Amino acid sequence: MKAQSTKLNPFLPSDPLKFRWIWLNWAFGFFFIASVFGLLMRSFHIWEIPVLEYRNILHTHSHIAMLGWGFLILTGGMVFSLAKAENEIRKFGWLFIGAVVSALGMLASFPVQGYGAVSISFATLHVLISYGFVYRLLILLNSEKSTTGIRLLRLALGFLVISTLGLWALGPINAQLGKMHELSFMSIQWFLHFQLNGWFVLGALGLIFLHFERSGYQFHWPKYQEIILAGSVILTYALAVTWAEPSPLAFQINGLAVLIQLVAYSFLILALFRGFWKVDLLPIVRILLISAFVSLLLKAALQAILVFPSIAVISYTIRMYVIGFLHLVLLGVLTMGISGLAVQKNWIEDTVISRSGWALLLGGFVISELLLFGQGTLIWLKLGFMEDYHLYLFLGSCLFPIGLGSLLIQVLFQKIPFQNISNPKIKFQKITTQTMKKSLLWSAGILGILLTACGGGTEQSATSTETSSAPATEAAAPDPKGIGEIKSVDLGTGIDASLADAGKAIVDMKCTACHQLNDKRLVGPGFQGVTNRRRPEWIMNMITNVDVMLEQDPTAQKLLEECLTRMPNQNLSQADARGILEFMRRNDEEKAGERDAAVK
Ligand code: HEC
Repeated sequence: MKAQSTKLNPFLPSDPLKFRWIWLNWAFGFFFIASVFGLLMRSFHIWEIPVLEYRNILHTHSHIAMLGWGFLILTGGMVFSLAKAENEIRKFGWLFIGAVVSALGMLASFPVQGYGAVSISFATLHVLISYGFVYRLLILLNSEKSTTGIRLLRLALGFLVISTLGLWALGPINAQLGKMHELSFMSIQWFLHFQLNGWFVLGALGLIFLHFERSGYQFHWPKYQEIILAGSVILTYALAVTWAEPSPLAFQINGLAVLIQLVAYSFLILALFRGFWKVDLLPIVRILLISAFVSLLLKAALQAILVFPSIAVISYTIRMYVIGFLHLVLLGVLTMGISGLAVQKNWIEDTVISRSGWALLLGGFVISELLLFGQGTLIWLKLGFMEDYHLYLFLGSCLFPIGLGSLLIQVLFQKIPFQNISNPKIKFQKITTQTMKKSLLWSAGILGILLTACGGGTEQSATSTETSSAPATEAAAPDPKGIGEIKSVDLGTGIDASLADAGKAIVDMKCTACHQLNDKRLVGPGFQGVTNRRRPEWIMNMITNVDVMLEQDPTAQKLLEECLTRMPNQNLSQADARGILEFMRRNDEEKAGERDAAVK
């Protein structure tokens, strides 16, 4: 019997409790790595970071956080809460390995090539593997009585599948219409929206309800409530549509949906709080679960404010809000919720080490959320940046890898109950060094293979861009004149005062909300010195063709990464832009004492 089951999967122990331990290690390992990449991103705003590309680091961070950590901890929570027999758990062996390998593949390829042949292949592999998970988990769910927890988990799996439809659409859209097309953007938003608001949130809630139900708290969730919750998750996608196409209808749909959602969530959160007091929980678990509930309430409330279209627009033009919201769901609801359960179930032991880990993690979470939402609001109020914002954000974020480091140490070295899961008498015994060595060896081996595979892959993708139909300008060195209709500008000898005055009138009206005339950054860079660092053609293209510039011009992209806000398109004519340029030249002559250095 034993020999046969080992043969089923030569890479994993047949003991389900060991398997669970390995699963947790990989999940927290990816979480730790994601936090290091997150910290790296924040350091970009403080120091010059050589070699590394901000965008690639961003993609690595988000993929590892969502598909490494989020996916593994949620599926793991489901597998080990639902499976009753050992052989049910073993059926997830290959799927688990596939999920880990695809996440490792993304980890090895995204930092080097960003979105490229190798990274996209691993991301696709991950999608396919998630279907396997959905299939196997649905089998487990169908053998259960349809309680609130089970129904929520089923909904979560449904949204996981729905989210991936956006990714399948992306291929044809990018090939036919190009990466900059609205539909391409909307497909990515589709994936993110249903992952976060459907799969992650409902999955975490489902597991919490399931635990409460099994601890004796029963809650009847009316069918109509389930329908309006699912409906609101689908309809709130309208917000993403308003970004690309600000139609009144889309705003109205979103407005209606967020209000319905608030009602649906209030109902569930009330039930959770009732259960919270009826069920026996460890003190640290209470703290973690309360954080998850509060995050959920804040998420629903924040979305509810979006009934006002003017606020709905701000929600996505100010990047800090977007990042704050993403973290609220992933760190607040998902991480705190499932971690609480994992401690309560003794999957992670409650020790001094793990407690300090949770405290640091919570601290980093609260500090960075306050900074993100605070700074976002300052920008909304046109008050500019708080002093040393980026430094504080960086320091607060240092708590993440430190906290996760302690949690990883806890999970790696904790005593594990090694015994058949069906055996009620669970014996505790320290994990042998041999098993540890074995799993470390395996990890190193897989990583090695992936890194070599990736080295070859990068070359391959480089040649494929050459032969693809992409315009040659994309691969060529950046054009200092930028991208757009303006190919050359005749600056003349002096400064045309009346032209500059006309420019000043436009700047006063349309630009000073975000740009100051000195060298200090507000939302965008200060205008002082701009004619010394950029060519006149670049400046005019930036003003008249900002959307394309932000998508394709490396200099503009770098600015976007620093400022985290997209400069809006203001529909200015070339003549308007020429006036503004003249005004900027005069401004530089007066303030910087030098103008047009970029063309000298
Ligand atoms: C909502 C805020 C906002 C408004 C309004 C705005 N900008 Fe910008 N601008 C930005 C941001 C932010 C950047 C940096 C690039 C990015 O993140 O999009 C930027 C970058 C620029 C740059 C490049 C600066 C550099 O140092 O290279 C120029 C030039 C510029 N803006 C001109 C203008 C002009 C002219 C107007 C008014 C017609 C204007 N902007 C209105 C936010 C704004």
